[in-house]
Amino acid sequence: MRKIRHYLEVMDLTGAEVKALVNQALAWKRRGYPRSRPLAGKQVALIFQKPSTRTRVSFQSAVSRLGGDSFYLGWGDLQLGRGETVEDTGRVMGRYVDAIVARVFSHQDLVALSGNGRAPVVNALSDRHHPCQALADVMTVFEFSKTPAKTKIAFVGDGNNVCTSLIQACALLGLKIWVANPADYRPPSDEVEKAVRAAERSKGEVVLTDNPREAVRDADFVYTDVFVSMGQDEERAKKLSAFLPNFQVNKKLMSLAKPSAKFMHCMPMRLNEEVTPEVAYGPQSVIYDQAENRMHTEAALLYLLLGGRRR
Ligand code: CP
Ligand code: NVA
Repeated sequence: MRKIRHYLEVMDLTGAEVKALVNQALAWKRRGYPRSRPLAGKQVALIFQKPSTRTRVSFQSAVSRLGGDSFYLGWGDLQLGRGETVEDTGRVMGRYVDAIVARVFSHQDLVALSGNGRAPVVNALSDRHHPCQALADVMTVFEFSKTPAKTKIAFVGDGNNVCTSLIQACALLGLKIWVANPADYRPPSDEVEKAVRAAERSKGEVVLTDNPREAVRDADFVYTDVFVSMGQDEERAKKLSAFLPNFQVNKKLMSLAKPSAKFMHCMPMRLNEEVTPEVAYGPQSVIYDQAENRMHTEAALLYLLLGGRRR
C-alpha cells in the first residue's frame, strides 16, 4: 500500500518536489488541464474553522478541474463543534474521503487530524504555517522572473504563517529571501532554523532584519501580509503600533526596490495598513496572478498526493 503523505508544512516536500509541482502548475496554467481527469472518483473534504475566499474556492475549483469531487464543512457543522476529538474526526473521515483539506486555529489540530488517518491531510492555513499559499508564491516568482535563482524577494511585516511558509519554500528552492519584521514579531526561531539549514543545502539565502529599507533595497519582489491575522483582534492596537509607519509598503518603500520589482500579497488586504492602494493596485502589483496561482498549485499538489492512488 502506498504510504500516506500529508502536507502540513512546506518542509513535508523536497525542493525537487516543489520545483516539479510548480512546473506542473505553470504548464496547466498555460495549456489547460488534462482531459484524462486524473482525480476522477476521488473525494476531497474541506474542513474550515476560519473564513476563506481564495483557499476554499481555489481548492474546489482545482479538484473539479482534475475530475474529482469536493465538499465544504464548517467546523461547527461537524461533531467537532460538540467536543468530538480531532483525532476521531480524522480517522473516521479517512474512511470516506481520499483527502482532507483543513484550515484550523491551532497547528496541533492538524497534527492530530493527520495522525493514524487513511487520507492525506493538507494544511489550508494554521496559526503556524500557510504552505499552500507558499506554493502559489514561489510559482508567481517563477512566472515573473526569468532568473529566479538571482532574484531577491523581500517580505516586510509580521513573521506570521505566510511569512514562515514563504521563507521555507524559498529556502527549499535556493531562492534569496530577506525578511524585515519588528524584533517582537519574528517568525518562530525553530522554523527559521529549518529554513536556514535548507538554504545551506540549496545555495539559497535567508536573511532576517528589523530594517524594511534594507530588505527592500534592490529587491525583485516585495511581499507583505496583514499585520493582524485571523484570531488576533485583541492584539490589534499593540501590533499596529509596532508596525506602523515603518513596515507599511507604500510608494516610498517600493522606490527602493528595483524599478521592475513586483508587489505581492496573499490577500485579503487591509488597505492603508500593511499596503497603500497605490501599490496594491498599481502597475507593479501581481496580486491577482498570485491568487490565481493558488488554484494551479493546489491542483498540482493534490495530483502529487492522490494521483494514481487507488482506494
Ligand atoms: N490567501 C488566503 O489564504 O486567502 P483566504 O483566507 O481567502 O483563503
Ligand atoms: N496571516 C493571515 C493570512 C490570511 C490568508 C491570517 O492568518 O489571517
